[in-house]
Amino acid sequence: MAQLWGGRFTKETDQLVYHFNASISFDKRLYEQDIQGSIAHVMILRSRDILTQEEEEQIIKGLEEILQDVKSGKLEITEEYEDIHSFVEATLINRIGEAGKKLHTGRSRNDQVALDMKLYTREQTELLDELTGELLGAILFIMKENLDTYMPGFTHLQKAQPTTLAHHMGAYFEMFKRDHERLQDIHRRMNTCPLGSGALAGTTYPLDREYTAELLGFDGPALNSMDGVSDRDYLIELLSALSIIMMHLSRFSEEVIIWNSNEYQFVEIDDAYSTGSSIMPQKKNPDIAELVRGKTGRVYGALNALLTTMKGIPLAYNKDMQEDKEWVFDAIDTVKGCIALFTGMLRTMQFNIDRMAESAKHGFTNATDVADYLVNHGVAFRDAHGIVGKLVLICIEKKLALEELSLEEYKEICPVFEADIYEAIRLDACVNKRRTIGAPGQDAMKQVIEIYEKYMSEYEKAPIKKGR
Ligand code: ARG
Repeated sequence: MAQLWGGRFTKETDQLVYHFNASISFDKRLYEQDIQGSIAHVMILRSRDILTQEEEEQIIKGLEEILQDVKSGKLEITEEYEDIHSFVEATLINRIGEAGKKLHTGRSRNDQVALDMKLYTREQTELLDELTGELLGAILFIMKENLDTYMPGFTHLQKAQPTTLAHHMGAYFEMFKRDHERLQDIHRRMNTCPLGSGALAGTTYPLDREYTAELLGFDGPALNSMDGVSDRDYLIELLSALSIIMMHLSRFSEEVIIWNSNEYQFVEIDDAYSTGSSIMPQKKNPDIAELVRGKTGRVYGALNALLTTMKGIPLAYNKDMQEDKEWVFDAIDTVKGCIALFTGMLRTMQFNIDRMAESAKHGFTNATDVADYLVNHGVAFRDAHGIVGKLVLICIEKKLALEELSLEEYKEICPVFEADIYEAIRLDACVNKRRTIGAPGQDAMKQVIEIYEKYMSEYEKAPIKKGR
């Protein structure tokens, strides 16, 4: 047991208490951020002559060596330390002696841990931004290739109106673009530096907090030291953005699973992204999509857990907040994995274009267009709706599609129909007549794709401004 405190205690900590209280088993992943923050802190102390130049050099060299040794595996972070902060400080003192004991001057673990988590999640948000950008790129590629890949659009999972694969994919582009923007927004808002908040009431040392913020790539210092140590909003915002990403990935997964089913056969997931059955030799299962869908619950759980943990905590720091880490780490790891795998699955997936078009031809997806034809010839829409309903009934009886009825059959129900009805309800005509922005017609889609390409190229030129 190695702890930074103990002076006012007369008894050893109970073993169970020690382990219940310790966070080293999970906060050890913050060693790099902890050392980075400590180096900045030492520079601030030096700038105000709180440390001598020699002490500054000694401490920074010691911290850099600890960083190298942990990275190379030479130094192991063991559970005999209470947390990562204790590990770094104790190891430093052990290695360089007296100067090491001055590292924690004007600092508390409260502002230290707040800083470590911010540095970590800021960097992770940058990685998530990149991954989401790659997913957007994969979706946009499919869109550009499939402007005339016809498929049924669904409502209630019933065939509704014809659309294209480009249009369907465009809906996901919109969703993940919002996610992408949300991450950028969160990154911007989280970028204030808590270091210098001390335990809760700042410090008596004349620390230059603007300089600390600058050294660590923040836009400025947290302006209230109580909030500085007890704000976990940025983690909750991140978990909520991650939850929404998972909700989108889960909906997409659900569609991939349906499309990949024996009944639909709209897509075929690549062998590299499928799994088999131990008993049924013929099986090729969409396990990756199912797991992505399944892991959504886990990320929602993290959001709920942290919201609940934070709801009753008085100002300022309370140990409850230590519970933020495992959830946030798990959610970030999970979402990064899910986006990367889903993107890979999407890039390698085969779209069964003929099957999709064939499916769009059945199920009366052009019924609205028959009604629109009548409207264009002077019939009121409500009347047209009734007329087409009757035609559909005849088709169901005769097991025909609307375009397979004869002109006589059309005219029998409504004399307004002429031979050009067949032209008007062809699959490509139905789609390409939908020209308003946001609709699947080729011209409208091309305009939107141009906007998306501009978005991507602007993003590629300037992804999230890196924290450092
Ligand atoms: N392990 C703690 C956490 O994650 C570090 C801060 C400890 N501060 C304290 N006053 N006990 O929140």
